[in-house]
Amino acid sequence: MGEKKMYLIVDENTSQYVNYLEKSLSISATYLELENGEKNKNFNSVLKVWKFLNHNNLKTNDILFILGGGMLTDLAGFAASTYKRGIEFVFLPTTLLAMADAAIGGKTGFNYQFLKNNIGTFTLPKAVFIDTIFLKTLPKREIDSGIAEVYKHGIIGDVNLWDYLKENTEKLDYHRLIKSSYKLKLEIVNKDPHEKGLRKKLNFGHTIGHAIESYLLNSNSPTLHGFAIAKGMVAESYFAKKENLLTEDNFQEIKTVLNNKFVNYFNFKIDPKEIIHLMLSDKKNTKNSINFSLPQKIGEVTINHEIDVEKVESYLLDFFQND
Ligand SMILES: NC(=O)c1ccc[n+]([C@@H]2O[C@H](COP(=O)([O-])OP(=O)(O)OC[C@H]3O[C@@H](n4cnc5c(N)ncnc54)[C@H](O)[C@@H]3O)[C@@H](O)[C@H]2O)c1
Repeated sequence: MGEKKMYLIVDENTSQYVNYLEKSLSISATYLELENGEKNKNFNSVLKVWKFLNHNNLKTNDILFILGGGMLTDLAGFAASTYKRGIEFVFLPTTLLAMADAAIGGKTGFNYQFLKNNIGTFTLPKAVFIDTIFLKTLPKREIDSGIAEVYKHGIIGDVNLWDYLKENTEKLDYHRLIKSSYKLKLEIVNKDPHEKGLRKKLNFGHTIGHAIESYLLNSNSPTLHGFAIAKGMVAESYFAKKENLLTEDNFQEIKTVLNNKFVNYFNFKIDPKEIIHLMLSDKKNTKNSINFSLPQKIGEVTINHEIDVEKVESYLLDFFQND
């Protein structure tokens, strides 16, 4: 019998764990190393994965392993889900963000024509193995970016998680954060895998957050995904207050907690008009209105809340002027 072999996609930072995997699984890895970072979540990287799969002649009964953060799980998951009409893949998430969020729920994709996740599929991985040992080498900035999505899970459906984060800002129990997060996300995506309704709750903070992320990426001063989403959550909570969905007290609580936590990362310059333009190109919106998932209180979010574009523009200008 031949040696056991795994096909693996890594990036420049996660390749340091290839030996660890080979040793712990007693397996030899044939791997492709992609360039890291959101700027490489593009078609060129997808092509490299397809080329690797063809070169190694993976068949539909082979499994591709993906060892990395959310950029890599989204991108290589997409490549695997389209190669030969789809081969199975397993995620080995290495960032807090991927463990708590991105590796769960089956959204794959890459950025195209200045839009986040413009091309993608819904394809579930065969399995996700979470090993927090990888977090030991993850820079604090990346940990904090991941925590932003955990705050989101608190606001949309887990008051205990929100209270825990409110009371503990440092020395966090990562196991607790990851477990609460993926449990909440799984509960939602199992009920609505293709985002027809309930799953839209997870988009809280992302309508504005994705536009901020794309805007900064295209203007060559990128921020991290979590920080754009954190800012998006503060802005969308302001919208919820303006739309009489959220009380002033709840808005102030969300704003204060997120501003305090992310104060060192919120120093980006935004052009609100460009943000509107990017939101209008988003797949979820029509010409005249923008679709939001907005909080009604901490732990509860309403979906499909449409706001006219003119109103969005005035809220956004207000928000950034008073920010
Ligand atoms: N599919 C989904 O449901 C979903 C949900 C949320 C976010 N996302 C996507 O996830 C992406 C953000 O995820 P991310 O923050 O994990 O990004 P990432 O994959 O870009 O990782 C962040 C950085 O950390 C490095 N890194 C990864 N693991 C490491 C480790 N263990 N030690 C040291 N360095 C390491 C990476 O090389 C990279 O430079 C975005 O593209 C976002 O759109 C997807």
